[in-house]
Amino acid sequence: MAQEFQGKYAIVTGGARGIGFASARALAKRGLTGVILADMNEDLAQKSAASLEIETGCRSYAFPVNVASPESIE
Ligand SMILES: NC(=O)c1ccc[n+]([C@@H]2O[C@H](COP(=O)([O-])OP(=O)(O)OC[C@H]3O[C@@H](n4cnc5c(N)ncnc54)[C@H](O)[C@@H]3O)[C@@H](O)[C@H]2O)c1
Repeated sequence: MAQEFQGKYAIVTGGARGIGFASARALAKRGLTGVILADMNEDLAQKSAASLEIETGCRSYAFPVNVASPESIE
């Protein structure tokens, strides 16, 4: 397995599912050390983070945020 992202971390907005989750998964499969799935759907983000960590070993966390809200981003 390629390890080009070993030692690196990523924050993926909209990462709980769809294109965001697929992007996080692709990075994790290339050796990413840790990822934060930043998503307004916290429950789904937590489930996705758990499954991603089991599948790839990449440390995966969920973080609730609404990227349409400056207050939430702060
Ligand atoms: N799927 C496609 O083929 C495709 C093609 C072109 C463009 N897009 C666009 O790309 C984006 C993502 O598509 P997708 O298919 O992955 O969608 P999706 O609905 O499967 O996933 C979107 C994720 O983003 C989260 N999200 C939505 N609004 C948010 C916000 N304000 N703050 C934080 N998280 C938020 C959702 O909770 C969800 O987990 C959409 O804007 C879509 O219109 C999709």
